[in-house]
Amino acid sequence: MTLPFDGAISKFFNEDIPENVQNAIRNAGKNDILAATYPYERRMKRAAYDETMERLQVELVKLQAWVHSEGKRVAIVFEGRDAAGKGGTIKRFRENLNPRICKTVALSKPTEEERGQWYFQRYIKELPTEGQITLFDRSWYNRGVVEHVFGFCSVKERELFFKQVTDFERMLVEDDVILIKLWLNVGRAEQLRRMLQREGDKLKQWKLSGIDVKGLHKWDAYTQAIAETFEKSDHKDARWTVIRSDDKRRARIAALKRVLNTIQYKTKNDRVADRPDAQICGGVDKWSV
Ligand code: ADP
Ligand code: AMP
Ligand code: MLT
Repeated sequence: MTLPFDGAISKFFNEDIPENVQNAIRNAGKNDILAATYPYERRMKRAAYDETMERLQVELVKLQAWVHSEGKRVAIVFEGRDAAGKGGTIKRFRENLNPRICKTVALSKPTEEERGQWYFQRYIKELPTEGQITLFDRSWYNRGVVEHVFGFCSVKERELFFKQVTDFERMLVEDDVILIKLWLNVGRAEQLRRMLQREGDKLKQWKLSGIDVKGLHKWDAYTQAIAETFEKSDHKDARWTVIRSDDKRRARIAALKRVLNTIQYKTKNDRVADRPDAQICGGVDKWSV
């Protein structure tokens, strides 16, 4: 399969990226973390990751049992720039869960019919019923960020979205939906490294889209749109959790812990489902994007 933008990422890397950044990316060891402000120098080691991940997954299975037996509804929103690690994190959530109880929703761009509806309508259909956990791989927050950056919505439509989103989420929470919003925060160099890697990997090329390629030129527009989104949608009924994701392993662990630590399911092991690493995971005030 040849992609229409074959080689576009390397081309961007070679032509648009300053030489010192190119060298930093090229010379970085596999375990080095590229973001200068990241709190750790090296990626987490596999052995420690595997052990923690396995324990957390046992807790997820308990959470699932509780959701199922108590008829709870859980909705988890995964947001972040392209290649932030949403897909990989969702995969770790689902790994040992029942696909009938825990399902992923990854909507593509709206159809003609959906474009004619209230913006939230197609997402509402996907919300969990009792006994279900729904993982949103991207969400209604498309309107705050990607749709705005690419001009897929008007300024007025985006303003209306921001006006409505807090009420929308408050209504869900009021109706006992457990709503958790996770923002995976990846640095620019690491994003580029991942895209270059995807471009050269036959198993991962499918993850790249024209939006990703064009988006490489729009880093600053994204930064601005994300800052506005945080400002307008971090409200007391549904706060954002920001997770630094330059190290995928630490990010995945933080995401699972954030969910497990917050929800009061039965037979929780508090030592395993403890608070996520505060250097990796926090509120919107904690990180500049
Ligand atoms: P992903 O990163 O989720 O694999 P893309 O990078 O291709 O997918 O697109 C990013 C997001 O932008 C997706 O949620 C997609 O549905 C949305 N999108 C793409 N094109 C449009 C469009 N014309 N109008 C609205 N949303 C769009
Ligand atoms: P993955 O996306 O999990 O397939 O990993 C991407 C590449 O980065 C692989 O070559 C991994 O071996 C390497 N890698 C090693 N340690 C880590 C880490 N802690 N986080 C992310 N990637 C890592
Ligand atoms: C991922 O790494 O799975 C991403 O966040 C999805 C994407 O590339 O847009």
